[in-house]
Amino acid sequence: MNMALRNIIKAPDELLRKKSRPVEKIEQKIITLLDDMAETMYANDGVGLAAVQVGILRRVVVIDIGDEEIGLIELINPVIKKSSGSQINEEGCLSVEGRRGNVKRPAKLVVEAYNREGQLIKYTAQGFLAVAMSHEIDHLDGVLFTDKLEEK
Ligand code: CO
Repeated sequence: MNMALRNIIKAPDELLRKKSRPVEKIEQKIITLLDDMAETMYANDGVGLAAVQVGILRRVVVIDIGDEEIGLIELINPVIKKSSGSQINEEGCLSVEGRRGNVKRPAKLVVEAYNREGQLIKYTAQGFLAVAMSHEIDHLDGVLFTDKLEEK
């Protein structure tokens, strides 16, 4: 693999407010994007990254919450199929420097997404993985965690 770090776009860049488009075909540039996004996330000690954060308006997400049993998750065109309960956790974002805050998210999510092989995978997420998925999928619709702070 030949990976490369990409620049992370920071708020208030208007690109972060745009809605990302679905991936129509998983071609080489999407595979390269996934590889670069993972490398960029790890290099910046992040737990998730959406393609818009590296300037690409496509519905692509990488997540690694540091649980070895889960490992790296790659989501192409993720869709939240079910959402239940709620939890409040402190969040930050690689695109929002110097800010953290409490955000209310679903306690449990069922998400369907394609992997890089084009297979539709169903994820049942709870705890911090549900937080990360909700946060990253929000990015695909131009939503930042700062829009959802419990106390502003
Ligand atoms: Co973020």
